[in-house]
Amino acid sequence: MGEPVSQVFNDRYFYKNEGLEESSYVYLIGNKLKDRWGQLNENEIFSIGELGFGTGLNFLNTLKLWKENKKAGTKLNYVSIEKFPLTKEDIKKSLSNYPSLKNEIDLLILKYPKLIRGFHRINFEKEDISLTLIFQDIDQSLYDLEGSMSLFDAWFLDGFSPKENNEMWTDDVFKNIAKLSHSETTASSFSVASNVKDSLKRNNFNFFRSDGFKNKRHMLEAVSTNSIKKLSNKKKEIAVIGAGISGACLANSLAKRGHKITVFEKEESSNNIPCFVGHPNLSHANTPYSRYLLQSFLFSTNYYLRNCNSSWNRTGVLVLEGFGSLSERLRKISKTLKDKELFREVDNNSFPELDFLKKDLKGFFFSDSGWLHTEKAIKQLLSHKNIRLINEEVLSLISNEPKFKKIATFKNEYIFDEICLCNSYDAKKILGIQGVNKKRGQVTEVSNLDLNLNQPICGKGYITPFDNSRLLIGSTYSEGQSEEIIEEDNKENLELIKEMFNLNLSAVNSYVGFRSTTKDHLPLLGEKEGFYLNLGHGSKGSISSPFCAEILCDVIDGCPIPTDKEVFLSLDPDRFNS
Ligand SMILES: Cc1cc2nc3c(=O)[nH]c(=O)nc-3n(C[C@H](O)[C@H](O)[C@H](O)COP(=O)(O)OP(=O)(O)OC[C@H]3O[C@@H](n4cnc5c(N)ncnc54)[C@H](O)[C@@H]3O)c2cc1C
Ligand SMILES: C[S@@+](CC[C@H](N)C(=O)[O-])C[C@H]1O[C@@H](n2cnc3c(N)ncnc32)[C@H](O)[C@@H]1O
Repeated sequence: MGEPVSQVFNDRYFYKNEGLEESSYVYLIGNKLKDRWGQLNENEIFSIGELGFGTGLNFLNTLKLWKENKKAGTKLNYVSIEKFPLTKEDIKKSLSNYPSLKNEIDLLILKYPKLIRGFHRINFEKEDISLTLIFQDIDQSLYDLEGSMSLFDAWFLDGFSPKENNEMWTDDVFKNIAKLSHSETTASSFSVASNVKDSLKRNNFNFFRSDGFKNKRHMLEAVSTNSIKKLSNKKKEIAVIGAGISGACLANSLAKRGHKITVFEKEESSNNIPCFVGHPNLSHANTPYSRYLLQSFLFSTNYYLRNCNSSWNRTGVLVLEGFGSLSERLRKISKTLKDKELFREVDNNSFPELDFLKKDLKGFFFSDSGWLHTEKAIKQLLSHKNIRLINEEVLSLISNEPKFKKIATFKNEYIFDEICLCNSYDAKKILGIQGVNKKRGQVTEVSNLDLNLNQPICGKGYITPFDNSRLLIGSTYSEGQSEEIIEEDNKENLELIKEMFNLNLSAVNSYVGFRSTTKDHLPLLGEKEGFYLNLGHGSKGSISSPFCAEILCDVIDGCPIPTDKEVFLSLDPDRFNS
């Protein structure tokens, strides 16, 4: 207890009783964090990259120092790479000797992600910290971080000793760190091994050996000689066009970062589908698409829990086996996951209250998911004090001024620092956008036959509770353009449910909506012609919108993004314009 040792590397994470002090000495003081944070301008963002998250001791120590010294308006990004993530239990056990970090440990444990390979973004909003944990190998992670094109202010070089853990200290590692550094970036390490010093030197870092912690003779401190200057941050006036779920999430996330947001919405009242199911449409293959689906799902389910308490219903979602290829994909995923928390396999005995389920039912239960009351969620997200809503249709955009961008509605002209288009397929009317199509869909509200249904069930179609004891089934998917209710579509929805459960339901109401889809099922996200695009969310806007908002906020703020380089490139808003 209190001196965790890695079985893989046969090395200590830190020395018993001295870990915290050494962490402060080598990393916090070694990078002069307190002084540098004191000199940050209002709105400035400070980014730390750590090689080896381990028990999280360095992070928690940094978090504590940050809380004690943070200047108003500043923000900390902490990105940490870890190939062998510890469980929550191991972290708690390892840090049990540090009662002074109790609050910080509790906070981390509360938000610690599932042990799933890849990127995980955790926001500590009250503390103005965003933590990005990258659970994968160092080389892949540093490559992936290039996707952000954002530079770090300080590096904590904290692999196990180079003798035991050579891959954390290779020349390629330092080459990549150098690419991610600016002219004032610093680095520090407990190791003074000659290959570490040589690599630092070869890769544009001046270093010096300073006195080591306690009885250690030396440690390393380094400063980048890169000529690239750090970009300054400022709070901006930003327009968001469209108050659907993608615009609402983006407006809220930008507002929380201190930007002043104006949302333009052409409709006076919501014509949304009344509820969105957090359908976990995941895939097992290690492709940008499947990583995007998984990262969106993990981020968004957490996001709604924190930000939409009155509209997010974390009921879990049941996915039935035997309809389409999803269950096959989920089975393959479950083989690759160490952590079984993402979903569990279930049968009809798991839901004794649902007597309409077939006796031989098999399925998967995603306990973190649920359904979203669309209108309430959008209202709640737009209620931030930094957001104003203008009910006007945006007719045109002008970006020919280098310093500002202009929006014209039929009533007025408005000037902004940035403009974000979250207006789905209608964006085509105001910007040359290719590859986005409009697909009609209809959902059917059915009579509630006391089914005792507490959570959405998805198979070929889906049935979900919403708004107290109402039930919704869906949904159709067609090329049609009619905004009117089509009776044939209701029949189609009722047939889907009959096929799944042999339930005879009758329609009591219907809702029509239009999705904006793309050929590769990925949204258009990022900068195009001086504007930011966030559209093409297809049939899963509730799952993709919070995650896409987070990525776009980072792009606008020049911060490390919460996804890997290939995922980011696959979202390129210009990819269909050739
Ligand atoms: C039948 C059906 C069922 C669905 N079920 C689910 C589900 O269960 N789960 C799920 O995750 N997703 C579901 N979806 C998909 C979901 O509806 C979309 O992914 C989501 O709405 C996309 O959100 P958005 O904000 O990008 O676009 P939208 O919701 O279309 O919002 C765009 C907004 O922009 C406004 N606008 C357009 N042009 C302008 C302009 N020039 N100026 C000002 N405002 C403008 C529009 O009025 C609109 O309010 C369903 C879709 C359909 C059709
Ligand atoms: C000394 S420990 C880090 C201690 C940590 N900073 C803390 O505060 O507890 C080194 C970490 O590097 C991780 N590691 C080792 N090889 C790695 C690799 N190739 N890629 C990513 N992480 C690796 C180990 O799993 C271990 O957690």
